[in-house]
Amino acid sequence: MTLSTHVSGGAAFRPGGPAIIAPSVLAADFANLQRDVELVNRSDADWFHVDVMDGVFVPNISFGFPVVEAVYRHARKPLDVHLMIVQPERYVAEFARKGASHITVHYEACTHLHRVLTQIREAGCQAGVALNMQTPVEVLTDITDAFDQVLIMTINPGFGGQQLLPLSIPKVRKLRQLLQGAGSSALIGVDGGLGLSNTPTLLDAGADYVVAGTSVFGADDPMDAIRQLKNCRQPMVA
Ligand code: DX5
Ligand code: ZN
Repeated sequence: MTLSTHVSGGAAFRPGGPAIIAPSVLAADFANLQRDVELVNRSDADWFHVDVMDGVFVPNISFGFPVVEAVYRHARKPLDVHLMIVQPERYVAEFARKGASHITVHYEACTHLHRVLTQIREAGCQAGVALNMQTPVEVLTDITDAFDQVLIMTINPGFGGQQLLPLSIPKVRKLRQLLQGAGSSALIGVDGGLGLSNTPTLLDAGADYVVAGTSVFGADDPMDAIRQLKNCRQPMVA
């Protein structure tokens, strides 16, 4: 298996341009997974967001290696794997082998976060760290060189279809300042409860990529929902 067939979505990113859109496979129809993967292939989306839940770190179990492998087999865009599992260091290498281009682990699940992020890069992937609602962005201050993306949870993780918690909005703004101050070019992502009504606000606060499950796969026209999300950034005032 070659991982090089997937270019990094980060490389093509232009600040202020269209958002990076990562439809969440969690909201796809698992009985028609190939159909939904191919829909995303044809769309303006940039990545596949793949939510792995272990029933321990979060109160839900989603799927594991066989499903990630099946998505990868049909995907023509990078797989952004979000590990909501305890001790993610035990599985990083295997998710990379199964086709992940980006791997995000939770700050709250890692005793040695820096080591795990290094392990992700050594596996040839973009390294991401996710922060739950209660975790302040300042925990990342001393390790800004160690990650390529930060995922701000805009809900309590574990389930799709929840409402965005507005506390997350100033947090994105704070993280943008922190990364700018540190000279980091890491991307900021937002995950949970995102749709056309709130995504412009999150992009304005400093988000670069947007994870969207229900608002994409629950839409009458998912391709159009992706197109609209991608282009919903508020025009900059001259
Ligand atoms: C939840 C997951 C999300 C979820 C988002 O824990 O991390 O990626 O799929 O789903 P929506 O967009 O439906 O809130
Ligand atoms: Zn996610």
